Amino acid sequence: QEVDWDPEAAEKGGYEHYMLKEIHEQPTALRQAISGRIDEMKGQVDLELDLPAEYLNSLEEVQFIACGTSYHAGLYAAKLFEEYADVRASAEIASEYEFTGGRDPWRTLVVAVTQSGETADTLSALKRAKRAGARTLAVTNTLGSTVTREVDDTVFIRAGPEIGVAATKTFCSQVATLALVAVHVSRKRGTISSAEAQELLSDLRGLPGAVQQVLDAEGQVRLAAEEHGDGDAFFFIGRRLGAPVALEGALKLKEISYDHAEGFPAGELKHGPLALVTSETPVLAVLTEGAKARETLNNVKEVESRGAPVIGCASDVVDAEKFVDKVFTVPELGELEPLVANVYFQLFSYYVANQKGRSIDKPRNLAKSVTVE
Ligand code: G6P
Repeated sequence: QEVDWDPEAAEKGGYEHYMLKEIHEQPTALRQAISGRIDEMKGQVDLELDLPAEYLNSLEEVQFIACGTSYHAGLYAAKLFEEYADVRASAEIASEYEFTGGRDPWRTLVVAVTQSGETADTLSALKRAKRAGARTLAVTNTLGSTVTREVDDTVFIRAGPEIGVAATKTFCSQVATLALVAVHVSRKRGTISSAEAQELLSDLRGLPGAVQQVLDAEGQVRLAAEEHGDGDAFFFIGRRLGAPVALEGALKLKEISYDHAEGFPAGELKHGPLALVTSETPVLAVLTEGAKARETLNNVKEVESRGAPVIGCASDVVDAEKFVDKVFTVPELGELEPLVANVYFQLFSYYVANQKGRSIDKPRNLAKSVTVE
């Protein structure tokens, strides 16, 4: 289940930056992530994962440990696991992680999510989990990386090399791969029917095409970045699966544009951050399926009444045009719609940073892989 990397393919190929190239590689990366792993007819996945049904049935908890963008993928996955696998699931920032696994630690599955497989904070958290006796799984992009030697099982995301320091295609592929793992675990546990699994698998199959539709709307995002790129600060909001995407949107923007950006679960806005909102604070909102769009619209109204311009990444679950200044259309894709919305956020961050002439592929002070704690 390994995909060879062609060094040629790692070149910029006509794009101004690796980051833009990698954003555009997402449909291909996603096809690689799911290739040969989906049996849609049966509603099953084949991940060559050695997690016996007996083990999965006794599973009590799944903990995702990760840093940065990978942590946001873990947050997304935790929600999918709670919903489909009917198991307690959480994501924790690796540098804050302490194992809490109850009386039988083996019944806790600890999943290290790491693109590089070399992040020191994640490896160190993993050691704490292992020492406590948990079963471990790695979800990584990198063959032969340290993490793969430390865990009981590994699933590769097969995104191909990512050169830009800001993670883009690997986030998308992490979430898609973790969704496959969620289906695998849920089917073995008998917590979803084959019809439910088929629906999620069909959305996964549709994901590369949906991401392509967003990429085809790139011109629109570039214009919005020109119009709103001079904000004092940028807020990203979303609920449920939209919340990790809001965090990821803000992280991307701050990493590469050096502007102040924050992501919030939309309901938290009124508990503090709203004090910062003015007409100079563009707000980007996830208004899709899987992200409690209707409830989020209430928060959109709160910021609009303070004069903030609002960009909504919206599918047709809500009539977004009526409520926001600009709509970026997200194709219908069930629980994966927030992940597709994230591609708009990537492009927005890219164009805001690019018009400011930032060092997009190598932002100041940041490294692709951080091997110190
Ligand atoms: C660094 C990178 C981030 C990345 C994080 C975790 O901080 O700059 O883009 O999300 O490490 O990396 P990993 O390889 O563990 O996913």
